[in-house]
Amino acid sequence: MILSNVFLFLLLALTVSAKEKGLPSSPGHYPSPQGGRSTTDAAWEAAYLKARDFLGNLTLIEKLNLTSGISKFGVCVGNTRDLPDKNMWGICLQDGPVGVRATDYNSAFPAGITAAATFNRQLIYERGRAIGSEFRGKGVDVALGPAIGPIGLKVLGGRLWEAMGSDPYLQGVAGAETVKGMQDAGVMANAKHFLVNEQETNRFTISSNLGDRALHEIYAWPFADVVHAGVGSIMCSYNLLNNSYGCENSYLLNHVLKDELGFQGFVVSDWWATHSGVNAITSGLDMDMPGTVADGKEGQSFFGSNFTISVLNGTIPMERLDDMVTRIMAAFYMVNLDQVREERGPPNFSQNTPNDTDYLFPLVGMGPLITVNTHVDVRTDQSYDVAYQTAAEAIVLLKNKNNTLPINGKRKVKKLSIFGRAAFPNRFGPDCDSRANVGCQPEQQLGASAMGFGSGSATLPYFITPFEALSQRARSERTVVDYGYDLETTDPTFSYMAQTSDVNVIFAMSYAGEGKDRENFTLWYNVDDTIESACKLNRNNIVVVTSPGPVDMERWIDNPNVTAVLFTTPSGQDSGQALTDIMYGDQDPSGRLPFTIAKHARDYVPISTGKASSENGKQQDDEPGKRDLLLDYRYFDQKNITPRYEFGFGLSYSKFSFSGLNIETVKAPDEHLPPPPGWKEPYSSNNVSINATDALFPGTGIDRIPYFVYPYINSTSQTTKNMKPYPFPDEYTTKQKSKPSLAGGASGGNPVLWEVAYRVNATLTNTGDRIARHVAQLYVGYPDSERFPSPPKQLRGFDKIELRPNETRPVRFDLLVRDLSVWDSVTSSWIVQRGEYQIYVGSSSRNLELHSEIHI
Ligand code: NOJ
Repeated sequence: MILSNVFLFLLLALTVSAKEKGLPSSPGHYPSPQGGRSTTDAAWEAAYLKARDFLGNLTLIEKLNLTSGISKFGVCVGNTRDLPDKNMWGICLQDGPVGVRATDYNSAFPAGITAAATFNRQLIYERGRAIGSEFRGKGVDVALGPAIGPIGLKVLGGRLWEAMGSDPYLQGVAGAETVKGMQDAGVMANAKHFLVNEQETNRFTISSNLGDRALHEIYAWPFADVVHAGVGSIMCSYNLLNNSYGCENSYLLNHVLKDELGFQGFVVSDWWATHSGVNAITSGLDMDMPGTVADGKEGQSFFGSNFTISVLNGTIPMERLDDMVTRIMAAFYMVNLDQVREERGPPNFSQNTPNDTDYLFPLVGMGPLITVNTHVDVRTDQSYDVAYQTAAEAIVLLKNKNNTLPINGKRKVKKLSIFGRAAFPNRFGPDCDSRANVGCQPEQQLGASAMGFGSGSATLPYFITPFEALSQRARSERTVVDYGYDLETTDPTFSYMAQTSDVNVIFAMSYAGEGKDRENFTLWYNVDDTIESACKLNRNNIVVVTSPGPVDMERWIDNPNVTAVLFTTPSGQDSGQALTDIMYGDQDPSGRLPFTIAKHARDYVPISTGKASSENGKQQDDEPGKRDLLLDYRYFDQKNITPRYEFGFGLSYSKFSFSGLNIETVKAPDEHLPPPPGWKEPYSSNNVSINATDALFPGTGIDRIPYFVYPYINSTSQTTKNMKPYPFPDEYTTKQKSKPSLAGGASGGNPVLWEVAYRVNATLTNTGDRIARHVAQLYVGYPDSERFPSPPKQLRGFDKIELRPNETRPVRFDLLVRDLSVWDSVTSSWIVQRGEYQIYVGSSSRNLELHSEIHI
């Protein structure tokens, strides 16, 4: 169905109305900065040359086809239309951050939060590369990951596990390493979701309200890292930011992302996150996915023919369409997709059917009958190694009394009992929800879990549950193994088992996913009761928690009979094996908490569940500036709240000591940024016929598939009918700026931000008796300042180092200018304040063994 062009005129920028109503608002910024004007990015420059060549040969319809999905019915979750005359099949976009979703013979990697918990840059890169190579093997062009938000403001957020920890620096490093790995493997990465998609409840309607400082210093920070790393695409988010939707927020997309961060790739909408045509396009959206206005409103699009009409009637300038296409194709060439596609061919799977042979568009029973699934096995040894090692290196040892761990280390365990559903296979299959479209519900998660649910999941090739690995290992060490899957603690069998073993291992979990935040911090299946009961019966109990975020452990954590506690985040296919190997000391535990575990739920920012504002119908989250800079440990430090376990915490079976802190000045930073490199003149193509008759649906040569989105128009009169001028906001202009903002100028922002200002050196010694890895962490406290009150300290460096017993190694951190900068909303730029900077090096955010100062 083609909509009337009335759609085109419907859309008033929400920003304007929000401001009038006294709600937090987002200023308008126009036009969308044209890509390819940067003078500093050689790789992008080369990609833009190719993209412009390509653009020069496209018809209007071909251009439009590249900017929109065809519907949700294609082979991938997002598909642009084929351009047969250009010998180009459509671009395939597919979920998600832990591996290729909704297919088979792929790996299911540990989640983003788990990669972050390794604090191992190289391993995070390798994980990205392994994921990338599997996407490439399946014929995917754009892999929808990594998620570098939510950033953990709300610890019950359903998708915390997909992203990379409650600190912008950690998310930035982990996101950038992942992007580099994926793109080196030959798939375009897609960093998501831009911006402040912190909760799932009301995710389509909530306005996340944020001050400009927090926006830059916390939420957009990791996106600067991935842009700096050359990410090809970024997904805008469902929620509103200061009352303007993520995918039509010109401040966010045009100004922050494309100007200040110098992003050269393209912005794609989250699925059905587009709420307008002209408004979204002029606000910086480059590609609409899956192309329709809402799920269930098949065939209706804000793009498609509405876009065509708005170009033909001059509402949207051709320059903007050309820029959208050029950005898409530049990103395509940037990751060499032209060559990669030649080598690997089109997608060899369909996410919409498990059949080998089916219609090309099985959900509508249309298109030729072809082989849709060739079941290509994309798993490699590298995938398996990296998936395992990431799971192992992310495991956090929280408590270890009397050398309880490693098992059989100091004392031989003769009998071991395993309790808690979280150890055992689920009778509905492993992570049943991960098999997209089979309708398995989160409530059916009745056992061990490898991931969360929703679009961030992937089909498991196998799943080693903790029960499987632990019981096998215990048996091989001649330990007697007993277990109870779902035993009531009042059951005599439970008492017998718990009492008669040398050690009980009790598995606890909580679970979350897309569209559903956790309801509370409580562990599932009454496991607190199980733990307390076991503690009454036995003096040696190990608790293993698997959770997408912090949980409440207060009922038992101080119980002296809980002798050891391990914490893991969703760990993928090898979860149980990795845990077992750590428990037996094959490797030293070296994961560190990527978030703070509080003692009380009230210490955290709650999920907003309130009513929508009567002013504009949107639910208003916190007030901007209220506490938005104080994320996670920043908040606990500032408010002097003692957490249960702090960010960055994790024990080892060995011991470490730091010494010898010294700081070299590489290049002392100026207070203000110098003007960035200029932009090249805007590019103008205007080579295409904009004759409305060329946009009519062709009489022959094309079968119209029901429910699909087409850019064709039905009649040339559509371009003039109901012509009223579009109500652009006052700030709207089509004139490109002549130079970037002070904060911009290159990928990731003003290049000076990325220069090394100081080098912090220290030494680390393994004083224990085991080979082990330690995470050296660097935190910086900014000068006391009334103008820029800042959290007491912020993570600004980390490195994981492996040491043999008694070995000493140097630790080196490069402090970049950005690491010392605050965002000044008055000048809209970064400032390095003059004053004393506190430099801390140590083992966690609250265990900082070394301290010094830098005077700037
Ligand atoms: C919605 C999710 O928010 C996004 O992350 C995902 O990539 C798309 N759906 C496509 O499945």
